[in-house]
Amino acid sequence: MALVSATEMLQKARQGKYAVGAFNTNNLEWTKAILKGAQESNSPVMIQTSMGAAKYMGGYKMCLHMVEDLIDSMGITVPVALHLDHGEYEDALECIELGYTSVMYDGSHLPFDENLEKAKEVVAKAHAKGVSVECEVGSIGGEEDGIIGSGELADPQECKQMADTGIDFLAAGIGNIHGAYPADWAGLSFDRLSEIADITGGELPLVLHGGSGIPLDQIQKAISLGVSKINVNTEAQEVFAAATREYIEAGKDREGKGFDPRKLLAPGTDAITELVKQRIEWFGSKDKA
Ligand code: 13P
Repeated sequence: MALVSATEMLQKARQGKYAVGAFNTNNLEWTKAILKGAQESNSPVMIQTSMGAAKYMGGYKMCLHMVEDLIDSMGITVPVALHLDHGEYEDALECIELGYTSVMYDGSHLPFDENLEKAKEVVAKAHAKGVSVECEVGSIGGEEDGIIGSGELADPQECKQMADTGIDFLAAGIGNIHGAYPADWAGLSFDRLSEIADITGGELPLVLHGGSGIPLDQIQKAISLGVSKINVNTEAQEVFAAATREYIEAGKDREGKGFDPRKLLAPGTDAITELVKQRIEWFGSKDKA
């Protein structure tokens, strides 16, 4: 199946009160693991590349071809959207031109008016090509590719203005942060999330960044209030690293040809697939392909 835009899958999720997992990829193994997990769960999925990860992998074109070719060679039949995560303006335009089916333009570090103006331009260019657009209001804490936010609560009025640009889904800070949550984390602000869902009309899919480490009950409540896309990156990195460490610490890389990368990287890859399947269960998108 060809790559699809994320608009329809997220609208369906919003209406059906579940969320689609948007998993960051870092390399070939990651991409295969995510696709396998989604296919085995019969779930729609978003594969996303940060600007840094795409650069690491050899560029956006390489990422696009990798995902398209794997969909073909792995016989993937579930809907897959390839999304740019936290893109600068130029990067968003490049991905739209190249064939990504979804982009996030993140102007949350700019003065709001500038963020809004650029968002409008990205929406016009993306929609002309059938590409879906995510924008961000209120920076999301933690560090993502060198962009550091402070974990604020988004201003509902700004969310409304951003929604009115015609974006397809909105990332708004509700106390979520990228990476591990500190022990004294206050949790998600459901009051703010409800306000944002109401003021944006009650139908716009909302995006929860920093999906790693949020307890299941908070995830489910967020979905019930309008979250339809949940980003997961750190947890996949953690399970990959733990499974690889276990393999090496058990001395398996020293047994026979255990040092062969196809063997060495297999436990970590399988661990990502298991995580993806588990999160798909959590998010409720199993069998929604
Ligand atoms: P985590 O790394 O906390 O899962 O966040 C991922 C994310 O939000 C990517 O944009």
